[in-house]
Amino acid sequence: MTTSIEPFDVVDLIRVKRSSGTLSTAQIDWLIDAYTRGYVADEQMSALTMAIFLNGMQRSEIRDLTLAMIASGETMSFDGLGRTTVDKHSTGGVGDKITLPLAPLVASFGVAVPQLSGRGLGHTGGTLDKLESIPGWQASLTNERMREILADEGAVICAAGTGLAPADAKLYALRDITGTVEAIPLIASSIMSKKIAEGTAALVLDVKFGSGAFIQDFTRAQELAHTMVDLGTDAGVRTSALLTDMSVPLGKTIGNALEVRESLETLSGGGPADIRELTVALAREMLAAAGQPDADVEAALDDGRAMDSWNRMIRAQGGDPEAPLPVAPHTHVVTAAESGYLIEQEALPFGIAAWRLGAGRARKQDPVMATAGIELHAKPGDQVTAGQPLFTLHSEDESRFGRALEAVEGAWSIGGTAPAPRSLVVERIS
Ligand code: URA
Repeated sequence: MTTSIEPFDVVDLIRVKRSSGTLSTAQIDWLIDAYTRGYVADEQMSALTMAIFLNGMQRSEIRDLTLAMIASGETMSFDGLGRTTVDKHSTGGVGDKITLPLAPLVASFGVAVPQLSGRGLGHTGGTLDKLESIPGWQASLTNERMREILADEGAVICAAGTGLAPADAKLYALRDITGTVEAIPLIASSIMSKKIAEGTAALVLDVKFGSGAFIQDFTRAQELAHTMVDLGTDAGVRTSALLTDMSVPLGKTIGNALEVRESLETLSGGGPADIRELTVALAREMLAAAGQPDADVEAALDDGRAMDSWNRMIRAQGGDPEAPLPVAPHTHVVTAAESGYLIEQEALPFGIAAWRLGAGRARKQDPVMATAGIELHAKPGDQVTAGQPLFTLHSEDESRFGRALEAVEGAWSIGGTAPAPRSLVVERIS
């Protein structure tokens, strides 16, 4: 029996990155292929990802890594659909339900919005988990059905199949257990390999910073946004990014069915001001990328076009948009101890509390509670009076309230002076 000779030795590649050197295209192509087929061991890849975490990567290496991960699986194409495709990706945050009103809103302008989404892990909720609180709604679609819905309705939000960038799935699972998730070259190549493989013509990124974001530091979030915009542009995908503040929860609900309810309010022309602002900002960005820079997106929210588009999108995936959303059997209200202005409302502790109430999962295989979460009755800057409800916890299991309350201890404050207003969209990068 003959065994084929491998062109590189992975230990040499680890040494290159350990001493801040640059890997060639051929080395990266081989590395990703050899790791996917199991020739490069997890221990070796762990050492390499840690060296990358500590020493970074050159732009050429990040591009090569992204392309190698794309080449590890299938690629999709929306050519022949008869509509321009624009996708949005958010790096995730607390109460971030923007995909729900955004996809049907943009689709109401005749653009196709393929949203291949995931489930939540940890304190940030997953779009599919939210939509699954709608009776009958199905996340899994074949590629053919997804195309059909896109062609007919313009928007589809479904589970990303395992065929896109499988090398990334393997590498991401390894990063998750080796403390190397937060390396910017690895995050950027991971996100962009899936988006480029999906075949969208344009992409708008919502890159978050602040306590509820995955990358909390503003400068690092900026670097991530620039890296992803460069990768998209190099791959021929029109890509831009908005840097948005995630220090306070987005909107007034955190948790699956509660967030769907708030999305419906937004699609009816109402909803919290921050949800409307970000939905409108991202819709304008997406429509500009699709050649409609002057689209009046606010009118589409106010006159029912976006809601019609939502109803069609939900029905196409088996959901009943008229069915009542599930409601938690148990609630616990927290009231203001004094009168004044709500000064602080930190995103991360509220995200953790919603997770502890059952809205999120600790392990991939865990189920989520559709009804669990938090309803915020006031947002920073609002005036509150002593005894007024500040927020309500929702769960199917009353015994979870104690641990959720522990998570938010000290996470909000009331004072005599209104806090300075914060901008939600801080920078645009293209
Ligand atoms: N999301 C991804 O898909 N990949 C990362 O590395 C981080 C967030």
